Amino acid sequence: MESLRRFSFVSFIALLAYFAFLASAEHHVQQFVIQPRPVKRLCRTHQSITVNGQFPGPTLIVRNGDSLAITVINRARYNISIHWHGIRQLRNPWADGPEYITQCPIRPGQSYTYRFKIEDQEGTLWWHAHSRWLRATVYGALIIYPRLGVPYPFSMPKRDIPILLGEWWDRNPMDVLRQAQFTGAAANVSDAYTINGQPGDLYRCSRAGTIRFPIFPGETVQLRVINAAMNQELFFSVANHQFTVVETDSAYTKPFTTSVIMIGPGQTTNVLLTANQRPGRYYMAARAYNSANAPFDNTTTTAILQYVNAPTRRGRGRGQIAPVFPVLPGFNDTATATAFTNRLRYWKRAPVPQQVDENLFFTVGLGLINCSNPNSPRCQGPNGTRFAASMNNMSFVLPRSNSVMQAYYQGMPGIFTTDFPPVPPVQFDYTGNVSRGLWQPIKGTKAYKLKYKANVQIVLQDTSIVTPENHPMHLHGYQFYVVGSGFGNFNPRTDPARFNLFDPPERNTIGTPPGGWVAIRFVADNPGAWFMHCHIDSHLGWGLAMVFLVENGRGRLQSVQAPPLDLPRC
Ligand code: C2O
Repeated sequence: MESLRRFSFVSFIALLAYFAFLASAEHHVQQFVIQPRPVKRLCRTHQSITVNGQFPGPTLIVRNGDSLAITVINRARYNISIHWHGIRQLRNPWADGPEYITQCPIRPGQSYTYRFKIEDQEGTLWWHAHSRWLRATVYGALIIYPRLGVPYPFSMPKRDIPILLGEWWDRNPMDVLRQAQFTGAAANVSDAYTINGQPGDLYRCSRAGTIRFPIFPGETVQLRVINAAMNQELFFSVANHQFTVVETDSAYTKPFTTSVIMIGPGQTTNVLLTANQRPGRYYMAARAYNSANAPFDNTTTTAILQYVNAPTRRGRGRGQIAPVFPVLPGFNDTATATAFTNRLRYWKRAPVPQQVDENLFFTVGLGLINCSNPNSPRCQGPNGTRFAASMNNMSFVLPRSNSVMQAYYQGMPGIFTTDFPPVPPVQFDYTGNVSRGLWQPIKGTKAYKLKYKANVQIVLQDTSIVTPENHPMHLHGYQFYVVGSGFGNFNPRTDPARFNLFDPPERNTIGTPPGGWVAIRFVADNPGAWFMHCHIDSHLGWGLAMVFLVENGRGRLQSVQAPPLDLPRC
C-alpha cells in the first residue's frame, strides 16, 4: 500500500514534469496562400507569385521542440511545393517538399498541410518554393530559438534582423526559365539583387523603397543573413563595421571577426554587428562572387544602417547625409571567398564520424549535350549544344508521374533506378584540360542507397568541364560536417591526413571551391529519399542533382512514418 502510494506520487511528479515540458513546446498553425500579387520593382509592376500577398514571404519564428502545421493553399496558376530548407524532417520526408522527389506538386486549386517538428535544431533557416523557378519570389526566413531557458553560446543581442538576399528579374521568372529550357542556352541573368525584397539606391526607381535599419549608438544587433538568390554566390559587407560570425546554416561557430562574408545560395550566416562608429549612415551591400567563366549580374544591392543620432544637413540641401559605401571584394576574388570559408569552425568539439563506412567520390560540374541539328532553335548553347550539368556524369531528370519517395515507399518500379555510381564512371584529370569526349553526361533518375546509420563521406570534386565554378551543394534531411577542402584534384592518399575531425563546421550547403574539392561527413540516421543538388537553380535544372535513399533501421523510431492522407496526388 505504502509502496503503491509512493509510486503514484512519483508518477504524479513525472507526469507534471511531462506536462510542463509539453507546455513549453508550441504548435504553430498557419496558412500559406500562394497567390499572384502586383509587385513594383525597377519601375515596373509584375504579377509576382507570393505567399499571403507578401514579398518576401512571412517570417516563421519558432522554438526548438515546436511543431508546425503549415497549410499551403495554391491559388496560383502554377504547380508548387514548399521546402523547409535545413529542417531535418526526421523519418518524415513527406514534409520536405522538393517536387517529384518527396511529393508531387500541389496543383492549382489544391492544398497540402506540411506537418513537422523541430528536433534538436536552432538558428537561422529558411523556406522556399521547390518547384521550377517559383522560389525567385516565394521564400522567407525560418528562425528557431533555443528551447525556453537554454542559453546561446555567445551573448545574444536583444535585436535580431533577418537579411534576405534575393534576385529579381524584370520579367516573370517562370518565363525566363521556360525560354532557357527551350533554347538550351543559359537563362538570362537577373536585373537586380535585393535585400529584404528591395534592390536599393543604386537601381532605377528604387530609392524610395530602400530598406533602412535604424540602430542605437553602442547597440549590438544580430544579422541573420540568408542567401535566397537563385543563381549567385554573394559578398556582403557593411561600411566601416566589422562582423562577428556566430552561426552558419543553423549551427554555431567559434566566433571570429571579418569585414566581409561570402554566402552561397541556400546558405545562412549569422553575424553580430556593433554600432561603434561615428553616428551616421552606412550602406550594407551585396554583390556577386562570380567564380565561373560565364555572364553574371554585376549589380549591387544596398540597404542603409542608420544611427538614430545621425547628423542631418542644415540649410540648403537639408536632409539626410549620404551613406558611406563599403569596400567589397572583386567579383572573382576567390582568395577572399576561400579565406572566409576556411575560418569557419564548429563552436565546440563536433561529433564527427571518425570512421567511414561509405566512401563516396562525386564529380560535380557542367556539361554540354550535342545536338543532331546544331542550328536548331533548341540548341542555342555553346557551339550548337544544350547546357547540362551532372554528378558522376549522371544528369538528373525529375520523374514526371510520381515522386521518388512515393515510388520507393510503394515499391513501384520504373520511376527511378538505384545505380547512381559511387565514383565517376571514368577517371580523368577533373580540373585539367578535359577532352571533349567527356563533356556529355548521361540523363537519368538515379539514386544511391545508404544503410541506416552508415557513416558517410562524400568528396565533391568540381570539374573544369565548360568552366570551373563554386557549386553550393545542398543535402536535404541532413546537416553534415565539412572536414576538408582544397584546390585541384582530391588526392585520396595525402588529403585525408589533413581533415579536421575535431571542430569542422556543420552545414547543410557547402560550395565546392572552383576547380577544387570539398569533403563532407554525416551519419545516415534519417531514413527516406533525400535530394542532394546544386543550389544554383540554373544548374539544378540542368541536372546537377542526385538522390540518397536511406534505408529504414530495425529499431523503434527508425523507419519512415506513414505518409499523410492529404499528400498531393500524382
Ligand atoms: Cu533550399 Cu533542394 O533546396
